[in-house]
Amino acid sequence: MKLLSGTSNKPLSKDIAKYLKSKLVHSSIRNFADGEIYVELNENIRGNSIFIIQSISSPANDNLMELLLCIDALKRSSAKNITAVVPYFGYARQDRKVVPRTSISAKLVSNLITKAGADRVVTVDLHAGQIQGFFDIPVDNLFSTPIFARHIKKNIKSKNIVCIAPDVGGTERARALGRILNVGLAIVDKRRPKPGQSQVMNVIGEVKGKTCIIVDDIIDSGGTIVNAAKALKNRGAKEVYVYITHGVLSGDAIKKIKNSVIKNLVITDTIDNKNKTKGAKNVEVLSISALMGEAIKRISNSTSVSDLFK
Ligand code: R5P
Repeated sequence: MKLLSGTSNKPLSKDIAKYLKSKLVHSSIRNFADGEIYVELNENIRGNSIFIIQSISSPANDNLMELLLCIDALKRSSAKNITAVVPYFGYARQDRKVVPRTSISAKLVSNLITKAGADRVVTVDLHAGQIQGFFDIPVDNLFSTPIFARHIKKNIKSKNIVCIAPDVGGTERARALGRILNVGLAIVDKRRPKPGQSQVMNVIGEVKGKTCIIVDDIIDSGGTIVNAAKALKNRGAKEVYVYITHGVLSGDAIKKIKNSVIKNLVITDTIDNKNKTKGAKNVEVLSISALMGEAIKRISNSTSVSDLFK
């Protein structure tokens, strides 16, 4: 088994390699003058099972193309099998036609990864679980819930906690965390008047006097979370904590979080955004490397991945 890293999240790849006491395949990934990507593997990988680690984070198009070229290079170098390890699976939010005449990018990206030559995909907190069905190869969708639950148990001492889904789509995720913490659930009824804008219509469930823990898969512009936190406070919530797997953090998201009623935002390192989070006092980053490393080890040894979440 060997690990190859793309350029989107080298620190995470290194941490996964460290967990597995392994080294990253020596490679050169460069750009031609016009921006085209060039991938070269500088060591023999013939007959090896290879895990290529690359998040489809910003710049999403470049990082996606780099992933495809890495898979292609591995295939042409006679790897025995190729697992695309995609900590953050970008383009997953467009997973159905919400209005007529739109594309379904999650399906297209699934097709591209498979067509390029991947035999398996490992990812974390897919935007919607059913995207696994867009692939005709095995997909292991890992969950950050156990990492978050551990952090909450250690750091939040309140006895009056409620888990919050910031929109109806996040209900299953919030319920899963609530089950581990043995607490109840409330749901924010969010509408999107247009892409990039969110509006809270209502809060379903009891939040008055409670410690609210919002859980979601993605924080992008920060609008969803900041508005949800404000709505919870307006309805009498005692305090609001936020746990989100993928810190996309576009534009002035960090500034919005800093100036919000949110006590603490916890994200993972599926996306490398150290530069954005540096100095932000109410933002904390937890590493997903041990979980991903353990999943890779289990896939490699053909043992159960789901046991990790029991
Ligand atoms: C949407 O369904 C996702 O789960 C997130 O809630 C959304 O992508 C967050 O976006 P933003 O931070 O821009 O409101």
